[in-house]
Amino acid sequence: MSRHTPITAVVTGASSGIGLAVARAFLRRGDRVVGNGRDQARLEAAARTLDAGERFVPVAGDIADPATSARIFDVAESRFGRVEVLVNNAGIFRSKAITEYTDADLDALIDTNLRGFVHATKRAAQHMTAHGGGHVVNVTASIALQPLANVPAALPILIKGGLHAATKALALELAPKKILVSAVAPGIVDTPLYAPEMHDFLRTLQPLGRIASADEIAEAVLHLASATFTTGVVLPVDGGMSAGRW
Ligand SMILES: NC(=O)c1ccc[n+]([C@@H]2O[C@H](COP(=O)([O-])OP(=O)(O)OC[C@H]3O[C@@H](n4cnc5c(N)ncnc54)[C@H](OP(=O)(O)O)[C@@H]3O)[C@@H](O)[C@H]2O)c1
Repeated sequence: MSRHTPITAVVTGASSGIGLAVARAFLRRGDRVVGNGRDQARLEAAARTLDAGERFVPVAGDIADPATSARIFDVAESRFGRVEVLVNNAGIFRSKAITEYTDADLDALIDTNLRGFVHATKRAAQHMTAHGGGHVVNVTASIALQPLANVPAALPILIKGGLHAATKALALELAPKKILVSAVAPGIVDTPLYAPEMHDFLRTLQPLGRIASADEIAEAVLHLASATFTTGVVLPVDGGMSAGRW
């Protein structure tokens, strides 16, 4: 087997949950990671657990602000020269009846889940076009592929479903630039997004009868980030949750 040539990955939302597991998986492979999150202290705590020295560079800032993506790519370029992979992972989830969503919920979901995606992807497309290609992997949500009656979440689904459509559109748009764009759609994952007391209910939502680990999602992200002929796919990693009725 040929040796892996280290690459540089930008991971948004790298201080917790799936993003932290993705960062760890790249670092274990010998890669470099520029990790983002809003809170500097949480990012520094993540850096300590990752223990990767100068191969992990934290860049704090709200991904909804275009200046954050600009800083991430500037730092990445000055430290490592080139970014081969962007993982659009930062995201929030709010489950409510449509009548209960507030304007603040709507703003928060649009800011992180939509604006953050747009700003980071624009930067990546510019950078990767100038450097001969790359990969963008979006972390979406399986519930946007098949909504669940007992988990009302129309607003997050609206945005994550839009990201599924954008994944395919961007795969076509950016293919001539050799930029491959795909998505991983997790089911229910063991991260701080869900309180442990919800786990008994949450595991009933997936046919395989358990909750995914963040490492299982990271494995799929790395797979798509290394693909040479797969682009425009939305890969559910959801224990069968979106496969149909059960
Ligand atoms: N956990 C699940 O079951 C599940 C299921 C389906 C999809 N997903 C998706 O997976 C992704 C990661 O979720 P997770 O469960 O790992 O969540 P998490 O443990 O809450 O981690 C979210 C990460 O994103 C960062 N973040 C949040 N808002 C941000 C912003 N505006 N700018 C920059 N960073 C921001 C957080 O750090 P700060 O708070 O310090 O900014 C943290 O590092 C999300 O897109 C989520 O929708 C998760």
